[in-house]
Amino acid sequence: MRAKTMLTGITRLFSRVQKLDPRCFLHMSVQATQNSQVPAERPRTVSRTSDSDPAKHGEQHEGQHYSIPLQDLKTVFPHGLPPRYMMQVKTFGEACLMVRKPALELLGYLKNTNFAHPAVRYLLYGEKGTGKTLSLCHAVHFCARHDWLILHIPDAHLWVKNCRELLQSTHNKQRFDQPLEASTWLKNFKTTNERFLSQIAPEELSLVHNLRKMVKNDWHGGAIVLSLSQTGSLFKSRTAYLPHELLGKEGFNALEPFLPILIPNYNPKEFESSFQYYLENNWLQHEKASTEEGRKELRFLSNCNPEQLERLCASL
Ligand code: GTP
Ligand code: MG
Repeated sequence: MRAKTMLTGITRLFSRVQKLDPRCFLHMSVQATQNSQVPAERPRTVSRTSDSDPAKHGEQHEGQHYSIPLQDLKTVFPHGLPPRYMMQVKTFGEACLMVRKPALELLGYLKNTNFAHPAVRYLLYGEKGTGKTLSLCHAVHFCARHDWLILHIPDAHLWVKNCRELLQSTHNKQRFDQPLEASTWLKNFKTTNERFLSQIAPEELSLVHNLRKMVKNDWHGGAIVLSLSQTGSLFKSRTAYLPHELLGKEGFNALEPFLPILIPNYNPKEFESSFQYYLENNWLQHEKASTEEGRKELRFLSNCNPEQLERLCASL
């Protein structure tokens, strides 16, 4: 696998393993959510459900929007949400996710996790902007509501880079704990750093090696959910999205066995729901927007891609 990876999110979800060290990327579920005020169902045409607990979401909710209480966003997603989605949250004053089929599939698996078995790896993949990250967020919200312990790595590439730097700085700190003149220190730093890097096996610094460590499933009591995206990859075609295309043979093998879940563009019902949602929130203000002609044009121009639809609506 190339240095620039496309694994954008890795989430280890532990159930009832609360004694783990909750530092760094770990965050606990939000008990507060259970007591949070769930906004009453609004008498609007956009299909919404007042059920804000993802565990209760089922096929009957497909295409409907549910809202995550704003006061819970920081605790459920301490690493934030996709920037354009956050912009929407700010503009609309609510954080609404659509209940979509692939997310329901994933929720079904998570709800039925056999905690005695090794953690299963789920891989969300799909074309650009189809909603992989937000589907992952739906699952994270489920886990947060149900006392799972969440280890979220928002950017696998950045995480490996940080680990390398941490490793090197710890190593250098050990060697240079005596006060030294700046120029001597710098010289020593450079040579030791080079020596240090030459001492460790190249695979120790490789992404595949670290990926293997991150997705190890030699533990049980939870699940591992990954989302795979082309974003940031300099070496792959912009249209590549299949796991073997983006991960390469080595990366793919490092992840196996895993359960792939395709996140496609909106189906007609989802498109309609999203379109209505933007209309009602005045994200879509063009006078032709609410006409059948306008709807058809948007469907054609966006190709029912969630990100494209949102971008098109933002400018209308
Ligand atoms: P890349 O990683 O860039 O390929 O995108 P992605 O597949 O992770 O898509 P992401 O989850 O970031 O969603 C892209 C955009 O689609 C969001 O910013 C939203 O505008 C819209 N969108 C996708 N799913 C939903 C949803 O469930 N609810 C709402 N309100 N918007 C959604
Ligand atoms: Mg994404």
